[in-house]
Amino acid sequence: MFIGDAMKKFRLKKSAYILIGTTVLSIGGIIGYIKYNEYITSDKYLLMEKGYSETDIATILKSKEITTTLLNRDYNEHILGIMNEKYYLKKNLDKYLSYKKENPDKTNSEIISIVNVNGDIEFYETIKPSDTSKGNLILVNKYNYLPDNYEIEDLVNMSIKVSFQGKQIKKEVYEAFYKMSMDARSEDLTIVANSTYRDYDYQTALYKRYKNNKGQAYADKYAARPGHSEHQTGLAIDVSTLNSSLENFHETDEYKWLIDNAHKYGFILRYPENKEFLTGYNYESWHYRYVGVDVATQIKNEDITFDEYYAYYVEG
Ligand code: DAL
Ligand code: ZN
Repeated sequence: MFIGDAMKKFRLKKSAYILIGTTVLSIGGIIGYIKYNEYITSDKYLLMEKGYSETDIATILKSKEITTTLLNRDYNEHILGIMNEKYYLKKNLDKYLSYKKENPDKTNSEIISIVNVNGDIEFYETIKPSDTSKGNLILVNKYNYLPDNYEIEDLVNMSIKVSFQGKQIKKEVYEAFYKMSMDARSEDLTIVANSTYRDYDYQTALYKRYKNNKGQAYADKYAARPGHSEHQTGLAIDVSTLNSSLENFHETDEYKWLIDNAHKYGFILRYPENKEFLTGYNYESWHYRYVGVDVATQIKNEDITFDEYYAYYVEG
């Protein structure tokens, strides 16, 4: 009897241990299974499966937007660098990637700038009417044009104190230019307006003259085709001193003064040196464009062209 009781107890204990053991194992298994499932469906795992490195993944996971985009696309070695560029625009991602594929030697920053300003398309190939509701920020370039009958309501005559004879410009631009020219005068510098508002017909004749004299390729580097000139907006001024020409303006003190000060009056150098691939024009040290003080200051600080500014900050 005594032995029988002991055996019973022992068997009971054994079964209890077995039960506890299997329960623990099952729970462990279930937890393990859940954890494994969680892992193989995690963003980290899926990104790894696509081919991204641990280092890339650490960066990718910091941004929900980047993570989602990359999870929905095939692996691309350039995509992360492109998406982290300052002027990256989501709507242009496919264009960036195909332009990068065609131009592997260009930096991501160049790719972004070029695509943002439509530079992946030939100049004048795809054109659309300029959005004239943008006021001082109207974009007129080789992709955006004004109609031949574009009218400006507030053109004013410029005083010969600050311009050559018979020039007209928009009122707000005139006031800013007048002040700028007078402030420069107080430092013994003479900044005058040389070419200002030009209507469609004027630009037609100007472009034709360039083309007849030097051929179309040359004309397109220096003059806008009719409808595509910023001068038709009444917001652009070609400046000079009393005795400089366009060609040597960049050697004058007036030029240096403008580089340092024009933004304080709302003007930007519209066609800077080495930015021809973005603006479509050769360097023009004399062509200033009015955009207002805040925008001019930002453009100067960020060292971008107006085309890039417009693509990113105006059109977005
Ligand atoms: N020279 C500038 C680009 C124009 O013709 O408007
Ligand atoms: Zn000009």
